[in-house]
Amino acid sequence: MDETDRLNASAGGCGAPPEPQDRNRAPAGLTREYRSGHVSVLWFAERCIHAADCIRLLPQVFDPERRPWVDVDAADADAIARAVLACPTGALQLGPHPTGPREPVPEGTTVTTVRNGPDFVRGPAEVRDASGGLIREDTRMALCRCGKSAHMPFCDNAHRATRFRDPGAFPAPPAADS
Ligand code: SF4
Ligand code: FES
Repeated sequence: MDETDRLNASAGGCGAPPEPQDRNRAPAGLTREYRSGHVSVLWFAERCIHAADCIRLLPQVFDPERRPWVDVDAADADAIARAVLACPTGALQLGPHPTGPREPVPEGTTVTTVRNGPDFVRGPAEVRDASGGLIREDTRMALCRCGKSAHMPFCDNAHRATRFRDPGAFPAPPAADS
């Protein structure tokens, strides 16, 4: 286990999610694979904002206090796949595996605003920069809404440290003319 695997993402490693109130300081591109005979789980450390859906759903597999923090032998492949697909940021993904579950591609795409937090995108989507360059193509992402992320345009949990407040309630669009 190298140093980056020992440290959590608050401290600049990929050993585990950041602390709930900290911004993610994992360097760009740090990825780990956790693999068994039944499933492959990929961990994109810089994308995690400690939404903790994985930890709530399957604490015996996803334990931020343990190293390695993901134990793919602690549950069956279907249960692990359900927890991975619940990750709203795409930090967890199902990796290629000859017999294991695959990442599904949902038909529709939704954007859901989180109170005091990011926009969660779910479904096939491309994020492009102002000149049209592709930044990321994925089916789960968290887009920064507070303007303080160091990983723009993605959320890095800065909204918590800076106490961003916005209820995410928007006026209804005007009714279409009949
Ligand atoms: S569900 Fe995703 S964003 Fe949340 S703690 Fe797990 S890996 Fe991180
Ligand atoms: S909304 Fe999370 S860092 Fe901006």
